[in-house]
Amino acid sequence: MKNQIEALNQKYASATASELLEGFLADFKDKIALSSSLGTEDQVLTHLVSQIDKSTKIFTLDTGRLFPETYDLIHRTNSKYGIKLAVYFPEAQKVEQMVGSKGINLFFESVENRKLCCNIRKIEPLKRAFTGLSVWICGLRREQSITRSDMQKIEWDEANGLIKLNPLIDWTEADVNHFLKEHGVPYNPLHDKGYPSIGCQPCTRAILDGEDIRAGRWWWENPETKECGLHKR
Ligand code: ADX
Ligand code: SF4
Repeated sequence: MKNQIEALNQKYASATASELLEGFLADFKDKIALSSSLGTEDQVLTHLVSQIDKSTKIFTLDTGRLFPETYDLIHRTNSKYGIKLAVYFPEAQKVEQMVGSKGINLFFESVENRKLCCNIRKIEPLKRAFTGLSVWICGLRREQSITRSDMQKIEWDEANGLIKLNPLIDWTEADVNHFLKEHGVPYNPLHDKGYPSIGCQPCTRAILDGEDIRAGRWWWENPETKECGLHKR
């Protein structure tokens, strides 16, 4: 698999995000899906994917703790592109058990609690969303964090047994924002209020001038632990 991934990276080394998506959507058809958090990068990808093939699966993980603005954006995105994002929910019983034993805002108490919550609300639904897939498309960029600085455009996702496609891996934040404006892509209004990176409402805050773009995510934790497990390597 390592050799195949290397060959794919070479094949698409100078391809644009759009060319890369065109190639993969044609080759993998109903075995490929875009995983969208409705963040700016994912909105760029939704736009590009919808231009190529509207029947492509686009899914989002509704943790139950998202911002109201994010729910609105799901609706606005569906309307604008004439698509229907697949929404995956956590298992009710597991959430009830977790909240019953550890409290509604357990994540502030320890990294362990936070990971448990991310596991139940994101990772388990993600595994269900992966059923039947060979490739998942993500909006990761190298610039986003130290944990992402050596990621490749095309990777083998060992934890999930899937090819992981990161079409925007070398885009800058300015590239993403420019694309949104130029193409009139709907985006979360919170981005204009100091929230460059948006996840669950209790675990996301606005950033201050000069702060890192992910400083508002799980802000009480060390940068090294700030991954929810979606992007294990
Ligand atoms: S996170 O790990 O810190 O939450 P981030 O918000 O940077 O991830 O998003 C990185 C990529 O992970 C997104 O571009 C998207 O592909 C995927 N992703 C993150 N959150 C979700 C979600 N709630 N639903 C679907 N995909 C998601
Ligand atoms: Fe739970 Fe926060 Fe993780 Fe959302 S980001 S799943 S609320 S710990």
